Amino acid sequence: MTPMLDTATNPNSQAHPVGRPGDPCVMVIFGAAGDLTRRKLFPALYNLAKERLLSREFAVVGLSHGAMSTDDFRKWIADDIRQYAGKNADADIVEWFLKRVYYVSAEFDDKNAYTKLKELLEEVNRDHTTHQNYFFYLATAPRFFGPVVEQLADAGLMEEANQHWRRVIIEKPFGHDLDSARILNQQLLKVAKEKQIYRIDHYLGKETVQNILAFRFANGIFEPIWNRRYIDHVQISVAETVGVEKRGGYYDTAGALRDMVPNHIMQLISLTAMEPPVSFQADAVRDEQNKILHAIQPLSSEEVLTRTVRGQYGPGTHDGQRVPGYREESGVPPDSKTETFVAMKLLIDNWRWADVPFYLRTGKRLTAQNTHIVIQFRRAPFVLFRDTPVENLMPNQLVLHIQPEEGISLQFAAKVPGPIMRLGAVDMNFEYADYFGTQPSTGYERLLHDCMIGDATLFQRADMVEAGWCVVSPALDVWKALPPRNFPNYSAGSWGPKDADELLERDGRRWRNFEK
Ligand code: BG6
Repeated sequence: MTPMLDTATNPNSQAHPVGRPGDPCVMVIFGAAGDLTRRKLFPALYNLAKERLLSREFAVVGLSHGAMSTDDFRKWIADDIRQYAGKNADADIVEWFLKRVYYVSAEFDDKNAYTKLKELLEEVNRDHTTHQNYFFYLATAPRFFGPVVEQLADAGLMEEANQHWRRVIIEKPFGHDLDSARILNQQLLKVAKEKQIYRIDHYLGKETVQNILAFRFANGIFEPIWNRRYIDHVQISVAETVGVEKRGGYYDTAGALRDMVPNHIMQLISLTAMEPPVSFQADAVRDEQNKILHAIQPLSSEEVLTRTVRGQYGPGTHDGQRVPGYREESGVPPDSKTETFVAMKLLIDNWRWADVPFYLRTGKRLTAQNTHIVIQFRRAPFVLFRDTPVENLMPNQLVLHIQPEEGISLQFAAKVPGPIMRLGAVDMNFEYADYFGTQPSTGYERLLHDCMIGDATLFQRADMVEAGWCVVSPALDVWKALPPRNFPNYSAGSWGPKDADELLERDGRRWRNFEK
């Protein structure tokens, strides 16, 4: 992985992006009219262009089934970029960018579409000297992932040669369970090499997630205490206030466990728990992440009952407004048994983490939007300050704030000023914005640029995706066999079902909630 920020000389100075532009290439987007493309991919490409991180020899081809001319598509994209960048949109960059955007109307399962695409790519390649380097971004429904890559291979578009590369970026969900993920991997690996496949997890595009590695491995002071001798437990919370928005149809077939845990939450666990890699080469980092995923103790059926919690939101309030329950959302059956909340207690079987629980939870329509990792250290060995109420004797907590706050805070006890010895919990805070300002980012810039320079560190390998599914498989099986009988079991706007609190209370612990 190549660092893109260089603050070596003065940590307080504004960080300036460094790094080479992507290779000359064409980005081909399947699903070019979709939400992801319009809200994230084009704004991300615009930001990269602005930072001079796109090659001058770059072009984009969008594919979608709607009939549209390239000119109309360009107008559309221009509007999207202007909407994203507002009045700060740089007209010269928008113009430069639009000149290299093309559109093809195509059905993804139609062989002729690939012949058409190949011809267009030859033209684009000549006009923009893109060296025949192509990457295909599959922003499509998952059922197209395997077939599109097969068709690309049949059309000779996945063939690499000394002088050029071919890559494919696959969106989530990667499979629906372990078996389907394995089948998809086999299907892809029949026609492409592992090094050509970039399985994306947009969590790894977040600065604060990447910073877990920097925090752990660029500082000498934390690593010696980053283990079972000093750490009591770890909490990972990914709380959302939104409901299922317009995605009821998809979400009801997935549920919170599939939607968030094998992918985003496994990234957070593996980065927090992994051993230091021998280098920042893609496979060195991913080998260590993979080891952690494999070391997560598989839950037995009985443990699924005692160490996992599922929930579904009923009606409630958010920001003083009444919001509907999950079963009233559009696209959701009125008797749906799909979970919108999950909490789990996992253990990692290795020397560093034996007996240190990792509690995780994620849910829709919770009190506040907040993603954070709490590292709770062991308490001081005995209570010296006998008159201190126990709730004030908080153990030290290091909190990695992923979003919307971006930073790190360390909680410790301090003497409350006054004539008697009283303790209070205080926070030492680092906020990204204070040090580095805010950079316009969609979270996809880094990932797209990495694909253009062939750095797969922040993408998932086949074995990692399968390992993530292995962790959740026992819960998927038991939950399927025992449908929930108490749904809905939490109100929209709450912190989830009370069973999730009990999961920690049984161990004498409690969730740290951030309400801001
Ligand atoms: C997606 C899930 O992968 O991640 C969504 O499908 C979820 O359900 C989203 O809302 C969360 O991403 P972010 O970046 O908003 O935290």
